[in-house]
Amino acid sequence: MQLGGIPRLSLGEFPTPLQELKNLGRILGGPRVFVKRDDLTGLGLGGNKLRKLEYALAEAAASGATVVITVGGPQSNHVRLTTAACNKLGLKTVLVIRGKLPVKPSGNLLIDHILGPSEIHYVGADGFPAKGELDRVADEKANEIAERLRAEGEVPYFIPNGCRAIHGAMGYASCVLEMVSQFKDRQLAPTAVFTAIGTSSTHTGLVLGAHLFTQDQLKIVGISVANASGGLTERVARQLQEAVDYFKLASTVPQKAIAILDDYVGDGYGIPTEAMKEAVLLTARSEGVLLDPVYTGKAMAGLIDRVRAGDYTTDDVVVLLHTGGTPALFADTQIDTFIDASSGTDNP
Ligand SMILES: Cc1ncc(COP(=O)(O)O)c(C=O)c1O
Repeated sequence: MQLGGIPRLSLGEFPTPLQELKNLGRILGGPRVFVKRDDLTGLGLGGNKLRKLEYALAEAAASGATVVITVGGPQSNHVRLTTAACNKLGLKTVLVIRGKLPVKPSGNLLIDHILGPSEIHYVGADGFPAKGELDRVADEKANEIAERLRAEGEVPYFIPNGCRAIHGAMGYASCVLEMVSQFKDRQLAPTAVFTAIGTSSTHTGLVLGAHLFTQDQLKIVGISVANASGGLTERVARQLQEAVDYFKLASTVPQKAIAILDDYVGDGYGIPTEAMKEAVLLTARSEGVLLDPVYTGKAMAGLIDRVRAGDYTTDDVVVLLHTGGTPALFADTQIDTFIDASSGTDNP
C-alpha cells in the first residue's frame, strides 16, 4: 500500500502521545491501559478528523478548490476541525448545519462561530424534518450552494460529514503505522485498541492498518455510539473493500477482523448513559484526562466493561484511542450531564 505516495497535507501534530493510564489500570485491576492521544492533534482543539482532513484537503488543493463546503450537526467535531484546517490553508469554508441556530451557541458551535466560516446555513429545526430526511435536505442545500458558488467563479470542494471513507481509511491506517512504531519503542504488544464508531471510517482505517502492518494481530474493537452493530459491520466491510480496491491490495481483510460492540449506545447518539458518566469521571479523577460524553466516554465505558467482564488479563495491554470531542463537554445539550458530579463542594 503506497500511503507514502498519496498527497497529504500537514495539519496536525504527529505522532500523538501514547500514554499509560497507570492509576486507572490499577483501579480496574486487569490489563495495562494506555491512551493514544488523538485529542492532542493540535489544530482547532484537536481530534481524529485532522488525520482524515490531511488527505481530503490535499485532494481539495489538487482540484484547485477555493472554498470547502461541509455538513454536520450543531455539535459536530468534523465541522469545527474542517473550518480550522481551512483557515490554516487560506480556504473559505461554508457550513451547512443540520439543526437550528440556538440563542446561545455553545461547545463546538461556539468555536465554529469564533473560527468564522464565510457562510453558515442552518437547515431543519427541533427534530423536523426527521433524521434521514434532514441528511438529504442538508446535502441538497450543499449542492445548491456549490452551484451558486461556481456561478460566482469559486471552485467548491465538498466534504461529507466525517470525510469520505477512503480518506478516513488512509488517515487511520497511517495511525496504526504510527502506533506500531510506538509499541516497538516501548516493547509493548497490545491485545486490543478500542475506538468509538460514528461514521465508521476511523474504525475502517484502524482495521485496514492492523491488517497491513500487524497481519491482523492487533485487534480493533469498535464501540458504536449510534447504530446497531449489524449494519455497521456491513458498512465497515464495504469501506474496507473500497480501500482494498483503491490500493489494489493483494489480500482482502478477513470479516472476522471487524469487531463492533453496540452495547454501550444507550438510548441513542449523544444521549448520556450511566456507564459513560462513570467512565468520564473515573478517567478524569484518576488521570486528569478528559474524555467526551458522545464518543470517547462511551468507548471507555466499553473498554472498562470488557475488562471487568474478564476479557483481558494482567498479561494484556489495551489501548483507548482518544479521538477528541471534548468541546462537547461545554455544549448546551450536555449541560445537565455532569451537573451532579461535584460532591465534596462546600458552598454555604
Ligand atoms: C470525537 C470523535 N470521536 C470519534 C468519532 C468517530 O469517528 P468516525 O466518524 O470516523 O467513526 C467522531 C466522529 O464521528 C468524533 O467526532
